[in-house]
Amino acid sequence: MADVRDLLDAGERLGAEELRTLQLERLRASLRHAYEHVPFYRESFDRAGVRPEDCRTLADLARFPFTTKADLRANYPYGMFAVPRERIRRLHASSGTTGRPTVVGYTDNDLDMWADMVARSIRAAGGRPGDVVHVAYGYGLFTGGLGAHYGAERLGCTVVPASGGMTARQVQLIQDLRPSVIMVTPSYMLTLLDEFERQGVDPRSTSLRVGVFGAEPWTERMRREIEERFAIDAVDIYGLSEVIGPGVAQECAETKDGLHVWEDHFYPEVVDPLTGEVLPDGERGELVFTSLTKEAMPIVRYRTRDLTRLLPGTARVFRRMEKITGRSDDMVILRGVNLFPTQIEEIVLRTPGVAPHFQLRLTRQGRMDALTVRAEARPDAPPRVREEAARAIVTGVKDGIGVSVDVEIVEPESLERSVGKIRRIVDLRPRADG
Ligand code: DLL
Repeated sequence: MADVRDLLDAGERLGAEELRTLQLERLRASLRHAYEHVPFYRESFDRAGVRPEDCRTLADLARFPFTTKADLRANYPYGMFAVPRERIRRLHASSGTTGRPTVVGYTDNDLDMWADMVARSIRAAGGRPGDVVHVAYGYGLFTGGLGAHYGAERLGCTVVPASGGMTARQVQLIQDLRPSVIMVTPSYMLTLLDEFERQGVDPRSTSLRVGVFGAEPWTERMRREIEERFAIDAVDIYGLSEVIGPGVAQECAETKDGLHVWEDHFYPEVVDPLTGEVLPDGERGELVFTSLTKEAMPIVRYRTRDLTRLLPGTARVFRRMEKITGRSDDMVILRGVNLFPTQIEEIVLRTPGVAPHFQLRLTRQGRMDALTVRAEARPDAPPRVREEAARAIVTGVKDGIGVSVDVEIVEPESLERSVGKIRRIVDLRPRADG
């Protein structure tokens, strides 16, 4: 097999110094582009008393104001665009569970760069030209499906645009078309696992070799579960529509040690979520992105709400981000203790007798919030094992996270299955206004 390094593109071959020089040059141009063409940025830079030319080093970026989801909403639908609408070749939108969605746009060059970054990601994951790639991310306004699709084509693969849903047919397609790569959310991969088993097909017997999983947080335990059950390599892909879509950062198959941020196009910072202060590499905080080459919708210091830390590069020159533990919006504060669904995932997945399906129910009992972990029994687990599992999860959460929760072991197949991004938290607390 060819050495991976022989396959790298020009950006991946840059030296560390060359990369910093390129980033600064691109950053300055991008700040200028935003300031000159987007009234929102002009006003926010002016208010903060900074001009694009004040950015003389990469560290100077810290002087520029943040951009938030609320800013994008306030400028819905076309207010954040830096080029005439006629030059926008495609629109995508975030799901927007509450309020207006946020719309993002791409020029021809943006689509080209995006395809390059996803192609780079699939290659880092272990995909190669000539592979058949099964894309089960949703197609449509969500960036997952089309983002993966054009990246796989760019790499020279044969794409199966399966999209999400129609699970029985997905299993059929995987058997018939013999893909070696699958791109899907980890939670939907588990739904596919159930379906393989329901159809009596051994999930380890398929042609699949590599899974490129993202769009939601998942843990090392989940990686092991999926790798063992399917006999594949499972690697992490990260992205968000406001920055481009999938293909902002990708884990390399050869190291599986966190995600290399494609920082020749997307410049990362990690800041203290409360004070906004930039944290040194290695410290955990909120991830913030500035686009370096985007035309249609340059983004400056966008607050992702995703929590992680930056680490030095290994398999690539680019810095890595640690697997995301969660979003600040998914954090549950239970009697003063901060808790993320991924912490519960680690505990549920190591507990014998329960399947990798769980849900967190938040209720209010009197003045106190309470959390119930509902985990599904494995079909072969007898009542005694289920009781032990419930006790093990209670103890695991108490010892590992430091808070008491209730645990309910529910019947196999009784929890709702994911077809895309899974919703772990069901909040049944009365609303503050009601
Ligand atoms: O989820 C883009 C994407 C599609 C990424 C397919 C990877 C694969 P949005 O719908 O805008 O875009 O949601 C972005 O999803 O801020 C994170 O909170 C979460 N997210 C995405 N990838 C990961 C990941 C797409 N690998 C939001 N691990 C982000 C954890 C992720 N969370």
